[in-house]
Amino acid sequence: MKKLVLSLSVLAVLGLQATDINTNMQTMRDGLLEIQDGFLYNNKDAVVAGIKKIEKANEIFHSKEAVEKYLPKEKKKMAGVTLLSAKRLNSDLEAMNAYISDNKMLEAAEIHSDVMKDCTRCHAIVRGW
Ligand code: HEC
Repeated sequence: MKKLVLSLSVLAVLGLQATDINTNMQTMRDGLLEIQDGFLYNNKDAVVAGIKKIEKANEIFHSKEAVEKYLPKEKKKMAGVTLLSAKRLNSDLEAMNAYISDNKMLEAAEIHSDVMKDCTRCHAIVRGW
């Protein structure tokens, strides 16, 4: 019985962590699409909302140890590099936000592809692309 309870709680913890990262990434994806639509439909508020969404979701990657938790076992040693893409993601979003505050929409829109690159850089490592 003890063993069963133990394995069930281990499963619960593993399950929770798996849904956590997926839910979180879903939010990042929603934010990215919101940003894209914001530029396409000339909706500044949507861009700002999208930026906030991604920034909030990106908070889970606040340290090397934090990132490590979400990496597959064989990729944990890459935590430092993936943390760099999370940090770059933050600074690109900040730069985008600053351009928007200055009403420089073209410059802000040009950062969109950098943001996408930041997502992909981490995914490439996680997925072994
Ligand atoms: C520091 C690493 C890191 C960064 C940065 C990152 N991701 Fe992820 N992402 C992951 C991990 C880990 C997974 C889960 C493993 C997988 O799907 O390969 C994942 C998976 C995903 C998935 C698939 C989720 C699922 O349910 O299958 C989406 C969508 C996603 N990320 C979107 C984004 C977007 C959009 C950005 C940028 C705005 C981003 N990610 C930035 C690490 C990252």
